[in-house]
Amino acid sequence: MCGIVGYIGKNNSKDILLDGLAELEYRGYDSAGIAILETDNIFHSKAVGKLQNLKEKTKDFQIDAFSIGIGHTRWATHGNPTELNAHPHLGEFSYVVHNGIIENYKEIKDSLIAEGVEFLSQTDTEVIVHLYEKNYKQSKDEFEAFKKTLDSLKGAYAILLITKTAQDKIFFAKNGSPMIIGTNSDELFFASSDAPLLGLANEVVYLKDDEYGYATQKEIKLFSNKTPMQIEKKPLVGDKISAQKGGFRFFMEKEIYEQSEVLSDCILGRALDKKVDFEELDENFFDGITHIKICACGTSYHSALATSYLFERVAKISTSVEIASEFRYKEPLLNHETLFIVISQSGETADTLEALKMAKNAGLKTLSICNVDNSSIVREADTSLLARAGIEKGVASTKAFATQVMVLWMLSLYIAEHKKIISKDELDSELKAIKHIPKVCVVKDTIHQKIRRLSKRYLHGHGFFFIGRDLFFPLALEGALKLKEISYLHAEGYPAGEMKHGPIALADANLFTVALMPKNLHYEKTKSNVEELSARDATILAISPLEFDLSDDFIKTTIQEHPMEEFFEMMVITQLLALEISIRLGNDVDMPRNLAKSVTVE
Ligand code: F6R
Repeated sequence: MCGIVGYIGKNNSKDILLDGLAELEYRGYDSAGIAILETDNIFHSKAVGKLQNLKEKTKDFQIDAFSIGIGHTRWATHGNPTELNAHPHLGEFSYVVHNGIIENYKEIKDSLIAEGVEFLSQTDTEVIVHLYEKNYKQSKDEFEAFKKTLDSLKGAYAILLITKTAQDKIFFAKNGSPMIIGTNSDELFFASSDAPLLGLANEVVYLKDDEYGYATQKEIKLFSNKTPMQIEKKPLVGDKISAQKGGFRFFMEKEIYEQSEVLSDCILGRALDKKVDFEELDENFFDGITHIKICACGTSYHSALATSYLFERVAKISTSVEIASEFRYKEPLLNHETLFIVISQSGETADTLEALKMAKNAGLKTLSICNVDNSSIVREADTSLLARAGIEKGVASTKAFATQVMVLWMLSLYIAEHKKIISKDELDSELKAIKHIPKVCVVKDTIHQKIRRLSKRYLHGHGFFFIGRDLFFPLALEGALKLKEISYLHAEGYPAGEMKHGPIALADANLFTVALMPKNLHYEKTKSNVEELSARDATILAISPLEFDLSDDFIKTTIQEHPMEEFFEMMVITQLLALEISIRLGNDVDMPRNLAKSVTVE
């Protein structure tokens, strides 16, 4: 996810911007850039890769006079990570940085191109600066032009804009993406989180959605809905690590809350109006493929297992799923009509990497779904689709899982379209559901509070069973894995219909059953299985949109149209449940004992 910084003052703006960007590195990025305006001179520089590359490129630039500047770290969502696509984006006399998505950028871009504007990048952001300059040429008033530009934008954004015609001002706007202003007696700063401001600013203004305005060294003019707003400054307190956590207790909690945003990034440019598109896949990619084998470990294995149901049901392609460490030594029979897909958050998991090499050596076509560009797995695979989850710091994977499932779901539709076996109506309703998922994943305060309260009842007992059917069985596996990883309580995921074939023997009041009971997929069958457990006095925590009288505890979900909407909503609930139980037990949620974020040994 992108990070933004800005500076107005007489100190070394280059170093302040670069240091600020370094504090935002934790958000993940693949390129970076800065632009500094000192009277009539504008300096700008961009570099792909680590910030060190930008530092190297700008090392000869010196500044010791009053200047204004903006900087950006970019996590590619639209267009590859190249220098041209890195921010700031420039017009003839203005520069812009942006975090978020301009949903209607294509219409704006097309109309600007028709008027003769030339675009340098593939990004949605570049439209902002050209539209601003067009508006400025008409009104000759910077703020009017900026407001008019905002009126044309649809989507989520945090924007900073500087222009040669207003050499002491930064224009800003926030809608959906974070933006903070920091001040001290003679400097003013912007940042995407507190971290870059610590040690520099004494007070901060946390901008709210739909707020915009401009700032000079001494004053901030803030508006919302055309009305001037009071500036509410707060003292800036805290340390850098807690600032990076953005007010959340743990990175894992922050990452659960981020899922809505990263899922928007994940579908951007892929879930289109009438079809799914992956720019990484050429048209013939699936020609001659009759079978899919997906190989992964841990949470990534669960995303594979869940979506294997979709590959068979929607894309009508036979699909098998393998745990990488098992696959390596089973002397598997592989044939050339199989597409070999590996899934990995880190891209460095030794077992998954070795499985990939085996498949390649056997001559199979390979595809990786990965969250880290340039990782070993991405380099090894023939083709890769990035999950776009941003850096995941909590050892227990959450947002990476969400984006993996999303990519694989979209891939199943892509194949179905390629095979011409999905009707237009079906595809439309799948795309509608996909676009609804970021909303589904917004964490509701009421649900989080409820889970926090419930969690105190689940700190003992002799174990948990997470149960579900169909797609919700792998989600049950994932819910159980999350819980055991960070709470150290024993938890198992099980197919609901399989409990009576053995595990039901464990049922008593101290066996906690977390029952995933979606309305849209085998509700009655799952309900019968849960009733069997309830009859044996198991303690039931039911998660469902439909009231269930036999449960001891009940978390009511939203009535949704599509099973995947229910899947994502229940995913968030099981993650929060694991989080709250483990916080009550006093565990280190982000760094659970015995676990590592990247498992590079077999
Ligand atoms: C669980 C978790 C692990 C990983 C597994 C594979 O929360 O994170 O189970 O999913 O170690 O790692 P990747 O996805 O990096 O290959």
